[in-house]
Amino acid sequence: MPAIVVLGAQWGDEGKGKATDLLATTDTIDFVVRTSGGHNAGHTIVVNGEKFATHLLPSGILTPGATSVIANGVVVSPEALFSELDGLIARGVDVAELKVSANAHIIASYHATIDKVTERFLGKNQIGTTGRGIGPAYADKINRVGVRVADLFDEKILHEKVEAALDVRNHLLTKIYNRRAIEVDVVVEELLSYVDRLRPMVCDTSLLLNRALDDGKTVLFEGAQATMLDVDHGTYPFVTSSSPIAGGVCTGAGIGPTRIDRVIGVIKAYTTRVGAGPFPTELFDNDGIELQRIGGEVGVSTGRTRRCGWYDAVIARYSSRVNGLTEFFLTKLDVLDSWERIPVCVAYEIDGERVEEMPMTQTEFHHAKPIYEYFDGWQEDISGCRTFEELPKNAQGYVKALEEISGAMIWGVGVGPGREQTLVVHDA
Ligand code: GDP
Ligand code: IMO
Ligand code: MG
Repeated sequence: MPAIVVLGAQWGDEGKGKATDLLATTDTIDFVVRTSGGHNAGHTIVVNGEKFATHLLPSGILTPGATSVIANGVVVSPEALFSELDGLIARGVDVAELKVSANAHIIASYHATIDKVTERFLGKNQIGTTGRGIGPAYADKINRVGVRVADLFDEKILHEKVEAALDVRNHLLTKIYNRRAIEVDVVVEELLSYVDRLRPMVCDTSLLLNRALDDGKTVLFEGAQATMLDVDHGTYPFVTSSSPIAGGVCTGAGIGPTRIDRVIGVIKAYTTRVGAGPFPTELFDNDGIELQRIGGEVGVSTGRTRRCGWYDAVIARYSSRVNGLTEFFLTKLDVLDSWERIPVCVAYEIDGERVEEMPMTQTEFHHAKPIYEYFDGWQEDISGCRTFEELPKNAQGYVKALEEISGAMIWGVGVGPGREQTLVVHDA
């Protein structure tokens, strides 16, 4: 099973870290690769009751024997990279081998400054970004004024690139945003301070990964963010600035689409979202508060409370379609243990009409009202179940119903945060 993609099927925080960790511990995974986003991600893994969170690093860094790769599509803050590595080392983690693409773009301190200033100026139209400089770094990349990892190894080129990047930015900062200009020399000096530690990690990761696939090695592409946060296919403009969908894996890693064997969409048994933007099944009542409390729905990176709502099968079908999912991994089924009746959104009502698929325009999506079907709850603790058959009949029924309406089979189900709290519904 050489190339496996694990990605978010909703608005993030579906449990991609757990799904990756599960695959990495049950199969022999040789490489775990991040292909988009940066340290805006927060992936939680619970091993023997101990909790770990990764942000820029793939969670495979915790898997002994696997090589971790930060591929070209990722935006890399060297400061965040080394502070994350040091944090893991301080906890006694034997961090696996790490490779970083020479073509990945750099997030420098000015990107975070600009991210925060831009958000403030948006006022009520804020995106609710993580403030980590992700959008400005990708904007520089697309504007062709980005600094890439390889540029750090030539001081003269680095100076020229930072100068070019800050030229227009400094006019904006001083004349529009009323801020101080950022000094080129200070930025260059800071970036140069990471060079010695970074150098041995840097390589042509596209070549590395294609050779690994040629040799029959198993490569796991660990998605960050999610389908509904995709800059093309998500709820634009309330999205991140990268392509977290399956297609983004190809551009983000430099591999061809024909190499991918499995595309696993991680999806929660309900829905959450952090930051601003439309969310049809969002709950503003006690059920929403309870989902948030029982599910522990607080952001891993920013500590923000996640908005909560019921499962949305329109989004699941859309994710299945846009990503060409071969299967879903359904997480957090245990969070629904106490409900007597569980609503599932099967379609939307938009301006008086029933709509089964994701509407074409954002305006329609803003107007979408969920049409619910109701399923009987199981009202017992399922966190100890280890096979599908051990689940209460109503929980089995809920999973089967979701499978029927979501557009792909459900390969596995999570019944708790622990690595072992998982059951396989269909063998892959
Ligand atoms: P990611 O960003 O997709 O990796 O997800 P996060 O780590 O941000 O959020 C998922 C949260 O749910 C983490 O706290 C996980 O430990 C937890 N989690 C994952 N799967 C399950 C599950 O099946 N049940 C429960 N109760 N928690 C889970
Ligand atoms: P993981 O990988 C949930 C959201 C932010 C904001 C929008 C844009 O843990 O699932 P950005 O800083 O990326 O420019 O913010 O995207 N966002 C996430 N929400 N999980 C994430 O990552 C996210 N990464 C970005 O909250 O709404
Ligand atoms: Mg997360």
